Amino acid sequence: MNVVALDSYEAACRKVADIFSDHLAEKPDTVLGLATGTTPLGLYSELVKDFQEGKISFAQATTFNLDEYCGLEPRHHQSYRYFMETNLFNKVDICLESTHVPDGMNTNTQDACDSYEQAIQKAGGIDIQLLGLGINGHIGFNEPAASFAVATHKIDLAQSTIQANSRLFNGIHEVPTQAYTMGIGTIMAARKIVVIVSGASKAKIVREAFFGPVVPQVPASILQLHPHVTVIVDSEAGALIP
Ligand code: GLP
Repeated sequence: MNVVALDSYEAACRKVADIFSDHLAEKPDTVLGLATGTTPLGLYSELVKDFQEGKISFAQATTFNLDEYCGLEPRHHQSYRYFMETNLFNKVDICLESTHVPDGMNTNTQDACDSYEQAIQKAGGIDIQLLGLGINGHIGFNEPAASFAVATHKIDLAQSTIQANSRLFNGIHEVPTQAYTMGIGTIMAARKIVVIVSGASKAKIVREAFFGPVVPQVPASILQLHPHVTVIVDSEAGALIP
């Protein structure tokens, strides 16, 4: 595991953008694993810039997002499908049919999860997966638990996650309580993983996840066992790194 601490959020975003741009330039038909949250916003701006400057193209790329809220229409302003279209897909040359986000409106859990896993397999697996880090150590929506959930599954969101994400909704009562998420096994099967973490509120969990024991109570700690992980933090998020 390679942990890189940079001075600022902007520098962290640029570094991650370079990793993704280089990857796309080398392998235009890359299968990208993508993430939402506030942290990747600066990264997506950089990737849009790289596209506008003609450095990269997404025309042959395929994407799979980590997760989606259950019960939110794709047009809902807080759905992850909407987030991806607004912040990346509609600003680059990606073919929308090649973009995948779990179907939060599918009430058949088995079908929603199995079809997502099958689509990833059919695409040849994920080449490079982007991750953010939840304040409680979650990756995707894999919340702290007694064991690691392997495949894509439906999860009851932790109260702390509902609380943290309520800042983006008109009140906590509007935050969905369940989500579909890639499993830990799905994430760990990616050939390369890049984690971006920013801000003082994440400093403690950065130390626990990447320098503490590997335990399902801190889901991101499993990444210590992956052979190709780069963690990019800004100085605030990296403040407690030993
Ligand atoms: C959300 C997402 C995660 C994301 C995390 C951190 O709940 N499901 O994929 O990494 O929260 O988000 P932020 O970057 O906004 O702190």
